[in-house]
Amino acid sequence: MEQTHFDLVIIGGGPAGYGAALYGASAGLDVALVEKDKVGGTCLHRGCIPAKELLETAAVVRTVAHAGDFGVKVEPIGLEWATVLERKQSVIDKLVGGVTGLLKNRKVTILNGTATLGADRTVTVVGGDESATLTADAVILAPGSVPRVIPGFEPAGPVVTSDEFFHIDGVPERAVVIGGGAIGCEFASTLADLGAAVTILEALPKILPGCDDDVTRVVQQSFKKKGIDIRTGVAVSGHAPGADGSTTVSFGEGERIETDLVVVSVGRAPFTDGLLVDGTGVKVTDRGFIEVDDLYRTGEPSVWAIGDVIATPQLAHVAFAEAICVVKDVLGEAAVPVDNDKVPWAIYCQPEVAFAGMSEAAAKDAGIDVVTSKHRFAGNSRAMIIGATDGLVKIIAEKLADGSAGRILGVHMVGPWVTEQLSGGYLAVNWEATVDEVAAFIQPHPSLTELFGESVLALTGRSLHG
Ligand code: NAI
Repeated sequence: MEQTHFDLVIIGGGPAGYGAALYGASAGLDVALVEKDKVGGTCLHRGCIPAKELLETAAVVRTVAHAGDFGVKVEPIGLEWATVLERKQSVIDKLVGGVTGLLKNRKVTILNGTATLGADRTVTVVGGDESATLTADAVILAPGSVPRVIPGFEPAGPVVTSDEFFHIDGVPERAVVIGGGAIGCEFASTLADLGAAVTILEALPKILPGCDDDVTRVVQQSFKKKGIDIRTGVAVSGHAPGADGSTTVSFGEGERIETDLVVVSVGRAPFTDGLLVDGTGVKVTDRGFIEVDDLYRTGEPSVWAIGDVIATPQLAHVAFAEAICVVKDVLGEAAVPVDNDKVPWAIYCQPEVAFAGMSEAAAKDAGIDVVTSKHRFAGNSRAMIIGATDGLVKIIAEKLADGSAGRILGVHMVGPWVTEQLSGGYLAVNWEATVDEVAAFIQPHPSLTELFGESVLALTGRSLHG
């Protein structure tokens, strides 16, 4: 390789890394991106994209199963698993091709290999197509994360993490999902809709612990209707494989459950193995995250870290925003970091969950007096038309001295297509808009987003249908 010095060298080609490369190159920087596997990272290959793609197969199964309600007669449902996996892979391949094409068009140099950061922003690349030693004016570390594993539940045989889940060879009859967070609920929802008997084992008192209680309650009820058995407040202690490929999981107070698949979804750990040599000034915390300041700067001059490797929400869209912030900082422009308390969350289980800002409990814990408004999709015309009425919209607003509602602090949604409906609520929370300001805007009729409009309008003290 002829060129060895760049304006910016980025380690890791996931959303954080390729986002920084695309944004940096569009701002005129000469960029090199080092990736040991394929560009796209966890999101494209083992996370967001394949998970949502399989959830869509589950949605098609649900639609076909309920076709009779709409007067449409269909044959009995059958799954061609090979086609399911092929479609998922073709979506991934198209997106990877798209990102790679964009990087090439913007003249980003892509190096295939494993990178290590040394002193003076020297990046050594080995183990891939070519070895190289690069230097840069600025370095961004974006090595991502790996699934956490519980001792005794290392992936093998029927035990999988999200890394292996997307390659299972069919829908199991029975599945145990350990961890009822975002990943656990998405996988449980997919498996149940595809016909598996699913049990969730969650250590905390409720699934989706970060969500507003009213939202979690709706998911719990809908999951029960799908036949998902939710066991909360239980710890797993081990599993004993059987001769037929199944295994028996021990949990709680001596309870056991036999299953064909165990999905371990208990969080993701930052990945820094082999990334740093001594003497760089980059520090790693006890929990394995790279230490950064408010602008994602590490302890080493002109070295930044973003994405799942730092202790911020592990979301692809947060990684993109961090990438933009850092590139601006690299360029010496004013850079505004992400407000981690107000990022949009979108969980694609069925029913979907989406929220931004404080839950009612979080506001109360922070000592803020609030008023809330809660409206259900059961009364929404579009929800009735599409036959998906489970769910609600909940608005949390600060309570003014006269008891009326002021600034919108949180918008929480659960129900049909709410991941596509959050943007109005996200804007309201981050714009620090008041209830009166947002209530003045109209929503199309008939639409699912009318429920957001109604929920805000009701907080003005008057309402239409709410
Ligand atoms: P998570 O941290 O969201 O949830 C893990 C769950 O496992 C927690 O509820 C925790 O209490 C439970 N748990 C931990 N140890 C346990 C044990 N030994 N037994 C039983 N339960 C146990 O992590 P998750 O779901 O694995 O997701 C990883 C990251 O990826 C998260 O930051 C998540 O936000 C992100 N992600 C986001 C998605 C989305 O927004 N749609 C989708 C997938 C992942």
